[in-house]
Amino acid sequence: MRKTSLPFDRASHPSQEESNAPARRTGALDRRTFLEFLGIGTVGFVLVPGLFSGCKPEAVAPKTTPYRITPLLPKASDALELAPGLNSQLLIRWNDPINATERFGFNNDFICYIPLDASVPEEGLLWVNHESVDPRFVSNWDELRPKTREQVTEEQLAVGGSILRVRKEDGQWQVLANDPMNRRVHGRTVIPFNWPHPIAGATAAVGTLANCSGGLTPWGHILTCEENYDQFYGENDPVSGLRQDIGVDQGWHTYDPFPPEHYGWVVEVNPRTGEAQKHIALGRCAHECATIHELPDARLVVYTGDDANDEHLYKFISSVPGSLSEGTLYAANLDKGIWEPIIHERPELRSDFADQTDVLIRLRYAAKKVNATPLDRPEDIEIDPVTGNVLVALTNNLPKGNYYGSILKIMEENGRHDALRFKHETYLAGGEETGFACPDNMAFDPQGNLWFTSDISGSKTNKEPYTAFGNNGLYVVPRHGEQAGQVIQVASAPHGAELTGPWFSPDGRSLFLSVQHPGENSPSMATLSSHWPDGGDSMPRPSVVVLSGQLLDQFSATATEKAG
Ligand code: FEO
Ligand code: CA
Ligand code: CA
Ligand code: CA
Repeated sequence: MRKTSLPFDRASHPSQEESNAPARRTGALDRRTFLEFLGIGTVGFVLVPGLFSGCKPEAVAPKTTPYRITPLLPKASDALELAPGLNSQLLIRWNDPINATERFGFNNDFICYIPLDASVPEEGLLWVNHESVDPRFVSNWDELRPKTREQVTEEQLAVGGSILRVRKEDGQWQVLANDPMNRRVHGRTVIPFNWPHPIAGATAAVGTLANCSGGLTPWGHILTCEENYDQFYGENDPVSGLRQDIGVDQGWHTYDPFPPEHYGWVVEVNPRTGEAQKHIALGRCAHECATIHELPDARLVVYTGDDANDEHLYKFISSVPGSLSEGTLYAANLDKGIWEPIIHERPELRSDFADQTDVLIRLRYAAKKVNATPLDRPEDIEIDPVTGNVLVALTNNLPKGNYYGSILKIMEENGRHDALRFKHETYLAGGEETGFACPDNMAFDPQGNLWFTSDISGSKTNKEPYTAFGNNGLYVVPRHGEQAGQVIQVASAPHGAELTGPWFSPDGRSLFLSVQHPGENSPSMATLSSHWPDGGDSMPRPSVVVLSGQLLDQFSATATEKAG
C-alpha cells in the first residue's frame, strides 16, 4: 500500500496509526486483496492511514478541477428527480424474483457492493437490507381482522436482506437472474448468537428483521443492523424486564412467540454463503449502522448509534485481532469527552444487572447508568477519509424542538480510533439556511466528497416546518472549489419515500441507492399517494436504482487518476 502525504484539509490531530496492518486470511479474501477489489489499493490514490472504516469504499484523490454542480431545487413530485449530469436506472423492485423460490424483499435500505474478482470490478455481489413491511402491500392485510399465519409468514419473508449477483454491461447494471449466489436472509432464517452464553434461553434466533443500515468488515462480510426491532415481536421494559405493551407491533408473536431479546443486534453475513451470526458484544439497541475501522494491529473499532430520541452513541474496541466478540463496548459522554466502558464490573451496573450478558441485552438502561449523553437520534456514521474524524448524523429530536437535525463531528484524541477521549463539534446544522433537514445515511465518494440523504417523516414532508425542503432528497457537500462546504441537493424522492443506502461502485461512477417506502403515507389502497416506479395506477414498489452520469464521472476514481 503506497503511503503519501495528505493533499488537503489535514486534521488538526492527524492519525498516528500506520496503514501497515498485517494481511490476514479472513474468509475468502485476504485484506489487501479485498481492498484492491474495492478499488482502494489502486496506485495513484492517496490513502489516509487506517481509513478502511466500512459502509463504503474510501479512497481520497489528489485535488482535481472542481466540477460545478447545478443544484436541484426542492420538489414535491411523485418521481425520482435528478440534478443535471445525473441519470438513473431501475435495478430491482420489491417482489421481483431473484431465483426460482425467492423474491426481493420490501423497504430496501443499506446497500453494499462487493466485487467478486479483482480482474472484473464490474461484476460482484450486492447486499441489500430490507427494513420493514407495510402489511397493506406485503400481505394484503386489510387492517380489519387479525393476520393469518400465512400473512405473517409472507411478512417475515419480506424483511432481512437480499444477496444479488450483479454485472455492468454496456453501461447498465443488471441482476443475474437465477444465479446460484442469489439468495435471501429473512425473518425466518435461523441465526446463531456469537456469544458464550444463551440469549433468553437460546443459542440462536429465528430471523433477522428491522435491517436498517449496516457496514462492511475488512474481510468482506456484511454487517446488517436490526433497528426498530420492537415493531415486530415487541419489547421488554428495560428496567423490570417485563413485557411492555406491544400494541403497536406487527403482531407476529401471535403465531411465533419469539423473545424480543433475540432482536436488536448487529448481524454479520457472509455474502458468498449467506451464513450469518448475531454479535452480542456490540450490544442490543435500535442499531442504525455499524461502521468498522481496523487498527494497525488488526483489532477492530466499531461505531454504532441507537436511533431513538435521547439514545446514545457507542463504540466497540476489540481486544483480539479481527474479533467482534472479544473486547469492550463504550458509550459516548460528550460533556466530558470520554468513552465510558459498559462493563458489569462497574459499581453503577453491578446492582442492577446479573452479568455482562444482561448488560448487553439491556444496553440502553446500562448506558444511562454510566452517564452516556442523550443524543438527537444517531443515524448513520462515516469516518472522513481525509481527516479521520467520525461523522454522526443526528436526524432530529422532535420532543426537544430539534426539527432539522445536524451532523456531529467526533475528533478522537490523537486521531486514534481506540482512544478513550475525544472532542466534538457540529459539522453541519440542518435548516432552511443550509437547505436540508433530518440527515440520515452518508457516504464518501472516491474524492472525499460527502453525500447524504434526508429522512423527513412521510407524514411531515411538505408541511411546516418542512415545507421549504420538499420531498426527501440526496445531497452532496463538495470538498473543493467554489462550492466547497455547500450542501447541494442532487436528487429528490417520490411521494412518501426516502432515499437510503447510498453506496459507490469502486470507481465512483455508479451510485447504488435505495428508494424506500414510496407511498408510505397512502390513506388507503384505493387512494395511493405514489405509483412510483411503474406509474399509472400501479402499486408503489420500493426499489434499488443506480445513479450515473457526468456528475459522478467528475468525482470518480479514474477522473482522479488522469488528473493526478
Ligand atoms: Fe431506519 Fe434510523 O433509520
Ligand atoms: Ca436510516
Ligand atoms: Ca453510510
Ligand atoms: Ca431515518
